[in-house]
Amino acid sequence: MTKKINILAIESSCDDTGAAVLQNNRVLSSKIANQKVHAEFGGVVPELASRAHQQNIVPVVDMAIKSAGIDKKDLHAIAFTKGPGLLGSLLVGTSFAKSMALSLGIPLIAVNHMQGHVLAHFIDEEGHQKPPFPFLCLTISGGHTQILKVNEYIDFEILGETIDDAVGEAFDKSAKIMGLPYPGGPLIDKYAQSGDPKRFKFSKPKTSNELDFSFSGLKTGILYFLQREQIKNENFIDENLNDICASIQGTIIDILIDKLEKASKKTGIKHIAIAGGVSANSGIRKALHENEEKLGWTTYIPKFEYTTDNAAMIGIVGYLKYINHNYTDESTLATARLKVNE
Ligand code: KG4
Ligand code: ZN
Repeated sequence: MTKKINILAIESSCDDTGAAVLQNNRVLSSKIANQKVHAEFGGVVPELASRAHQQNIVPVVDMAIKSAGIDKKDLHAIAFTKGPGLLGSLLVGTSFAKSMALSLGIPLIAVNHMQGHVLAHFIDEEGHQKPPFPFLCLTISGGHTQILKVNEYIDFEILGETIDDAVGEAFDKSAKIMGLPYPGGPLIDKYAQSGDPKRFKFSKPKTSNELDFSFSGLKTGILYFLQREQIKNENFIDENLNDICASIQGTIIDILIDKLEKASKKTGIKHIAIAGGVSANSGIRKALHENEEKLGWTTYIPKFEYTTDNAAMIGIVGYLKYINHNYTDESTLATARLKVNE
């Protein structure tokens, strides 16, 4: 019989404070405290984020342990997000994890947030099939846009990545231009569902490496387009919101799918996964399903709650590292910039 390993995982890389308890590959509990304070500023304010993490971390961890139905002394290790992310936010989770592991006398495991997004696919979930190695993973979040070749659990090759904005930023900045609150990605998704994606055309960027991405030009194109239209009709955005959102989302999805198709052709890999906050997008999920038939892909889409930032994804990496005795010690530092394969 496999030994039951209980891991407490802590995620505090940006504006959500997360805590989860995993028993081997299974999630016993996963709690998250979202920070509402940033909405009125149109983006995450680092100082406010770290202050809110400090307020949230004790109750969120407490809730996760209680709702897992275990006692603190049943924990085998504590996993935490080491980076990448906002330094002040990472410091809160890192210090908390270190002191708790020290007081319980259990190992400490440092987790790369981006590996968490990808390896969330290995959480045991009814109805979710785990991708076989090697597979391609399109990692799309507020801070990252990459196509990875995943050779093994912790063996990633970056085939392409953004040379400027991340795709989540493209969503959020477009939303901001239209006067929508932060984070605008989910709102664009919502309005797009009742809109016509072919109504407005936005030009697609070119990059020298055919698998790289660029989104800053698209954002500028959208800004100029809306300014032009608003000169003719000051209510243009309100009157056409659904179609504008559908057209922006449609353009972004076309860019993502086109690069994935190229990466699949180049590598011959047809097992295609998506990960990261933007993989919650209903349009990208639909487009992937359509390609299953068209291109013979098998696609892997994480359960909705494991797409945007959460601690369960940190816990699964924690478990995979635990079984390989890949621990860290108290000298480890929160690190704002960390590549996916570090
Ligand atoms: O992975 P995540 O939670 O945080 C980072 O590590 O960055 O991703 C957050 C990003 C934000 O830009 C948010 O607008 C975007 O994911 N997002 C979405 C959707 N849900 C979240 N973008 C488009 N459609 C969605 N449904
Ligand atoms: Zn993330």
